[in-house]
Amino acid sequence: MEWARFSKEAAFITRQAMVKYIYGVPIAVYRTVEGLKAYIAICPHKYHVICVRELVNGRYIMCQGHGELFKSTTGEPEGKFTRESLRPVELKVENGTVYVARPSDDVLKWAKRISGVDG
Ligand code: FES
Repeated sequence: MEWARFSKEAAFITRQAMVKYIYGVPIAVYRTVEGLKAYIAICPHKYHVICVRELVNGRYIMCQGHGELFKSTTGEPEGKFTRESLRPVELKVENGTVYVARPSDDVLKWAKRISGVDG
């Protein structure tokens, strides 16, 4: 499995979220009540890039597009605008550094197509 460095784990002491382009797509890491979680930072509703620094009530990722709320621990939506979950990305922490795994080719293709990076 291919891994890319995301940030220092200590950065999440003061932040709840961080978004970076890695593997050509936006990936977000969130400090949740169940530890760090990573997702492709594209809303499955109308494909806005989700770029937030704070979780709503410390638990929900809010898309700025139309306001859908996703559970930060699972990526599941509340269901007001979409029934699709955020696409998870594997992560690991080694020696105080957060790494994210390369998503599958299908997920990368989907993310690049809808975010306009490819074609
Ligand atoms: S694009 Fe995210 S809620 Fe519509």
